[in-house]
Amino acid sequence: MTSPHGTAAHPAAPGVSRAELTALIGEIEKEQRVNEAVVNLVPSENRVSPLASTPLRTDFYNRYFFNDALDPEFWQFRGGEGVGRLEAELALPALRRLGRAEYVNVRPVSGMSAMLVVLLGLGGDAGDGVVCVDAATGGHYATARQIRMLGRRALEVPFTEGRVEADALRRALGSGRVPLVYLDLQNCLREPDVAQVAEVIRETSPETVLHVDCSHTLGLVLGGVHANPLDLGADTMGGSTHKTFPGPQKGVLFTRDEALARRMREAQFYTISSHHFAETLALGLAAAEFEHFGAAYARQVLVNARTFAAALRDRGFDVVPGGPHLTDTHQVWVRMAPGESAGTFSARLAALGIRVNVQTELPGIAEPALRLGVSEVTLTGGTERTMEALAEVFALVRAEETTKAAELFQGLPGGLAEPYFFTSRSEGAGFPGSAGEEGVFRG
Ligand SMILES: Cc1ncc(COP(=O)(O)O)c(C=O)c1O
Repeated sequence: MTSPHGTAAHPAAPGVSRAELTALIGEIEKEQRVNEAVVNLVPSENRVSPLASTPLRTDFYNRYFFNDALDPEFWQFRGGEGVGRLEAELALPALRRLGRAEYVNVRPVSGMSAMLVVLLGLGGDAGDGVVCVDAATGGHYATARQIRMLGRRALEVPFTEGRVEADALRRALGSGRVPLVYLDLQNCLREPDVAQVAEVIRETSPETVLHVDCSHTLGLVLGGVHANPLDLGADTMGGSTHKTFPGPQKGVLFTRDEALARRMREAQFYTISSHHFAETLALGLAAAEFEHFGAAYARQVLVNARTFAAALRDRGFDVVPGGPHLTDTHQVWVRMAPGESAGTFSARLAALGIRVNVQTELPGIAEPALRLGVSEVTLTGGTERTMEALAEVFALVRAEETTKAAELFQGLPGGLAEPYFFTSRSEGAGFPGSAGEEGVFRG
């Protein structure tokens, strides 16, 4: 792009012109209008509620906030004096109650950032072993690599049918000093059996710390439909706050152990400086809101995921079964038919306004497949009827009945009838940003 125009104060410079930048803003705004009408079925994503997203549009987005102790002598960076207490007095207490953990760290900026903090804080020294879940069986793609980049030995163990392979775990724990088991699942239809892992650790290597990275399932854990790993023998847990948990893009860590909290805090201090203040305020609001809605939302996520899986299977889709209910999480996996392209199918759905996630490395599936998630559609009020209708739209798209599919999609039941967040219709509503959200969300 060229830059023919400048201003008096700032003469023309090579690069993108002001007119071109204005046009780009127009494109972003146009795409945002598209975004407001889509149904998003990507399991790694969710949506921040109108209330919780309020800080994201404020000046706090531009600010650092270090003074979480609110020490009157320590305002080295100004700006947080008025609302900084919301971290200590809203975010942390709400998350402590939800996670039933005395020590909560809201400083990680994402799930990966929380991962780094845990590996550095609890993963021992160079040369030590850290156990993680083999990515080919559902573990996060980056964990083993991150462990190796930090100079530790990555000991990958397989995960099948909701359980870590116990013999492989025993062998890993017996291979020299292993300070940490990092139980991480990126692709998972089953709730992991944390108690089993804790039991093997107790028998084989009692000094080893067990961390459960529940990035994908945090909303299910904090909403109470998955067991809290800390109740089952995990020492620490945490992960992303924007997958099943409907918060901003951030990370969080929980523990009931003061010494472990201190070690994570130290690693965090040297790996994260800005913890993204506006997002942290948003996380506090999202957590407080989740205390009102989270339990019902999490129950409905599970109901919707199972309904969607069964409805797709009934319409001839090759749904990968994750146990007797097809799925125990928000994820639903669909294998494509021979000769059918996941990319083409995804593009046809996207043209209609439905976004799905194509994954190339789902456990046990050699070819690209669909990894669907129902968190966002549930949060905004989608019910079993919505899931049945969406499955029917999928079937019509597969049959290339585009007009019928579009008609059905436009009339999709659900909408904002019963979203799992406060709206302007909620009792006592009136928070900034709540007005007009009815026009924003679908399904
Ligand atoms: C188990 C696990 N850990 C970490 C992450 C990374 O999270 P983020 O994308 O928030 O950095 C993911 C993302 O899928 C995950 O599944």
